[in-house]
Amino acid sequence: MQSGATSKPSSSLSGMVTAPGDKSISHRSIIFGALAEGDTHVSGLLKGADILSTIGAMRALGATIVEQDDGSWIVTGVGQEGLNSPSEVVDCGNAGTGVRLIMGAAAAYNIEAEFTGDESLRSRPMARVLDPLREMGVTAESQDGDRLPAMIKSDGALKPIDFTPPHASAQVKSAILLAGLRTHGITTVRETRLSRDHTENMLRAFGADVNARPKDDGQIVSIEGPISLVATRVNVPGDPSSAAFPIVAALIIPGSDICIENVMMNPTRTGLLETLAEMGGDIRADNFRKSGGEVIADLHVRHSNLRGVSVPPSRAPSMIDEYPILAVAAAFAKGETIMNGIEELRVKESDRIMATVELLRRNGVDVTETAGGMRVKGGVVPGNATVPTYHDHRIAMSALILGLAAQNPVSIDDGSMIATSFPSFFELMSSLGAEIEVTS
Ligand code: S3P
Repeated sequence: MQSGATSKPSSSLSGMVTAPGDKSISHRSIIFGALAEGDTHVSGLLKGADILSTIGAMRALGATIVEQDDGSWIVTGVGQEGLNSPSEVVDCGNAGTGVRLIMGAAAAYNIEAEFTGDESLRSRPMARVLDPLREMGVTAESQDGDRLPAMIKSDGALKPIDFTPPHASAQVKSAILLAGLRTHGITTVRETRLSRDHTENMLRAFGADVNARPKDDGQIVSIEGPISLVATRVNVPGDPSSAAFPIVAALIIPGSDICIENVMMNPTRTGLLETLAEMGGDIRADNFRKSGGEVIADLHVRHSNLRGVSVPPSRAPSMIDEYPILAVAAAFAKGETIMNGIEELRVKESDRIMATVELLRRNGVDVTETAGGMRVKGGVVPGNATVPTYHDHRIAMSALILGLAAQNPVSIDDGSMIATSFPSFFELMSSLGAEIEVTS
């Protein structure tokens, strides 16, 4: 059900909050646990709608996944028995990562399964995953332009491939590696730019031998199948892509001083922190420690006078989901911020270049859409508009953060989909002192 929300110019934010579980790692903990032999214990799982879709899908394919009284989860994997053909269409909701990884994982088995999703997911391109899977021997039938619903048929005897994805994509890399787990031989993915490496790290945690060799700005990653995954414990670290919202809020609201605990600092995910530091953002990380195989830290963020920067396109993979909220920070910065080489944003939950430009323009910000990105001139932000969110959680949260530091309130047409990645967003922001009201 749709529900709108309005954020009002707020006085300084303060307090300490904990970042919610990382969405990428949460998906992978469920999927890998479902494939493994034995019981995988997952703590800190993000209980967002996207992850619940992945849990539903992996149950439909044969895994047993149960939430415990203490909020942790036990995933009993199918192991040697393998995934089975589901009796109904598998609905992955809004979860692009979920459906792309699960199609890859399922294709490794003797299976027939149909996958679909909500309106936003059904509009997103699937050829990037279906084409390499076809090369491995899968029969995949889908809608025009390789969209969902898609029917996957596999005899479970795939050929290993050596594949160079045309764009940096952890989803594509992961789908191919998962499909390669049961092949006989070496499956290789050549990345010209390194994308988030959670699949490589987690495969290792589940006992797989993953060979990753750096090459220029990217890497060559390969596995030699067949590989049986062995259940393990996963402690999900906090999501830097969700932490980005309170971080930017604190930077742009005068007098703010907050701490966000438990933020994953994996270098394939910290591009926004680098960029905000270049803009003059006062962000200090301390208490570095390891959790679930990843480095985490606590971030102390204070209001800062930001200045515009040009973001190097090579940084895009490490902050691919953070451009809408970076554009909000840029709207309050002195000078121009240039974002280029981010065409991939056009095929996220919405066309995020178009949606971000509209968000800013409606609120009186000087912004130019370019073929490969956008340019934002910072200054005073009038606000006072209602922003269309196009079923996109990150557009919805970005608009609400803008309204906290604008001259007038900012509304969104729908905030219900924020629960896909950050179900505690309203609560967490309000505990810091942000004035955000949910309307119906
Ligand atoms: C993700 C990879 C990214 C990102 C998405 C999560 C993942 O997509 O945008 O939110 O968990 O692998 P691409 O790999 O397609 O860029």
